Amino acid sequence: MPDTEDLTSGARFQPGVAAQHTAFPLRGCGSLDWGMQSRLARIFRPTTWRTVMLAIDHGYFLGPITGLERVDLSIVPLLPDADALMTTRGMIRSTVPPASRTPIVLRASGGPSILKELSDEQIAVSIEDAARINASAVAVQVFIGGEHETQSVRNMTRLVDEGQRLGIPVLAVTAVGKELTRDARYLRLATRICAELGAHFVKTYYCDKDFETVTSACPVPLVMAGGKKLPELDALVMAYRAIEAGAAGVDMGRNIFQSTTPSAMLRAISAVVHESMKPEDAYEQYVRPATQQSPISMEVA
Ligand code: R5P
Repeated sequence: MPDTEDLTSGARFQPGVAAQHTAFPLRGCGSLDWGMQSRLARIFRPTTWRTVMLAIDHGYFLGPITGLERVDLSIVPLLPDADALMTTRGMIRSTVPPASRTPIVLRASGGPSILKELSDEQIAVSIEDAARINASAVAVQVFIGGEHETQSVRNMTRLVDEGQRLGIPVLAVTAVGKELTRDARYLRLATRICAELGAHFVKTYYCDKDFETVTSACPVPLVMAGGKKLPELDALVMAYRAIEAGAAGVDMGRNIFQSTTPSAMLRAISAVVHESMKPEDAYEQYVRPATQQSPISMEVA
C-alpha cells in the first residue's frame, strides 16, 4: 500500500553527496558486467581478493587417483574451508551437496584419457548446463605448444563468447606438456595468450625464477596450480612465494587431498594465501599438530 503522506525529508536525499561507487578491485576485471564480477567475488574472497581453490577434477582424464577414490568421504568434509571447488559436472550432480556454500568452478573441457594425446580436448559442457549447475566459473585446458594448440585455444575462445553471454567467467588452465619447460618465458607466453584471447582469470604453474614477471605480464588474476605432491612444507613455501610474487591465489589438488592431513593442509594454505602467514608458521600451527594425531581417525571422522 503506498504511503498516504510523504514522510521523506529533503535532507535524506543528500543531494550534495556524490553517488557512491566502489571500484571492483580484481586485476583487469573492473569493466566486466555485474554478474561476471559477482561470480568472481564468490571465488575471490572480497576481504583479500585472493582465493584458495580446491582442484579435484583429475578424474576427467586420470580416473580415481589416490585421494579421490571416495570424494564423498575425502573431499566433501573439506568444502567449508575452500573458497571454491574445481570439479566436473558428474561429480557435482552425483556427490557434491547442493546446500554447500562453496562456489563451483566447473571443468568444461575434456575428451582424451591419460592413454591418449591429452591436448585433443573438446568443450565438454554447454554454458546452459554450467548456468543450471549455478557454476561461478567454467575452466578449460589450453595447451600452448601442444599438438592440438589451436583447437584448445578455440575451445577457450568459444567458452569466453558463451560465458560473456550469460555472465559466467572463464578460467584458462595452462597445461604444460612433458616436452615443454615450465620456465618463466614459457609461462609468460601461455598465460598472456589466454588473457589476450579473453580468459577472465588464468591458472598456471609456479616457477622458481622470475615468476613475478609471469604475474605482472598477465593482465587478469593469475592463480597458481599445485602440481604433483610435495612434502607439506615445500608446498606451503611454493604457495607463499607465488602469492608474494603477485599470484591472486592458488588452485591446488594433490598437495591437499594426497596429504596425510588434508584438512590441516587446506587450512594452512588458506592462512598463507589470505593472511600472508609464513609457510613455516602455517606448518607449525596447522600441519604438525594434525600429523601428531591419527590421520585416519581425524580426517575421515
Ligand atoms: C589440470 O590438468 C587440472 O585442472 C588438474 O586436474 C588440476 O589442476 C590439478 O591440480 P593439482 O596439480 O594441484 O593436483
